[in-house]
Amino acid sequence: MVESEGLSVGKVAERAGVSVATLHFYENRGLISSWRNNGNQRRYRQGVLRRIAVIKTAQRLGLSLAEIAAAMETLPADRTPTKADWKRLSSRWRGQLQARIDQLEKLRDQLDGCIGCGCLSLQQCRLRNPDDIAAEEGDGAIYLER
Ligand code: FES
Repeated sequence: MVESEGLSVGKVAERAGVSVATLHFYENRGLISSWRNNGNQRRYRQGVLRRIAVIKTAQRLGLSLAEIAAAMETLPADRTPTKADWKRLSSRWRGQLQARIDQLEKLRDQLDGCIGCGCLSLQQCRLRNPDDIAAEEGDGAIYLER
């Protein structure tokens, strides 16, 4: 393939292991880009394959497309993400993943207190009402009673 000819959408889908619809979706979200050739056919640079690999890996980590898009914006659009780029992004995502794990562990521990209870009380259940600041001031509609 001559680089200036680019890869067709079908070829990218085949080589990246994703559907054509997924490629269009990524492109609509600004995660990848293409251009139109003289025949008005969509064409992609070779580097798009590595960008898709980064996107798919990030999705496996549970990152949202918005988070992935924000990270991808830090990469130059006209070149393949390098090993250094991946190292930087993966370091950042590791921190996010750890924060999510910490939050899930906290929720799991709170769930332990609910097992066998079933009250789902706004006053007592921390899962049902996790940010209940008003409860510290007493029962009832305390804001209306002021
Ligand atoms: S259901 Fe009772 S404390 Fe959560």
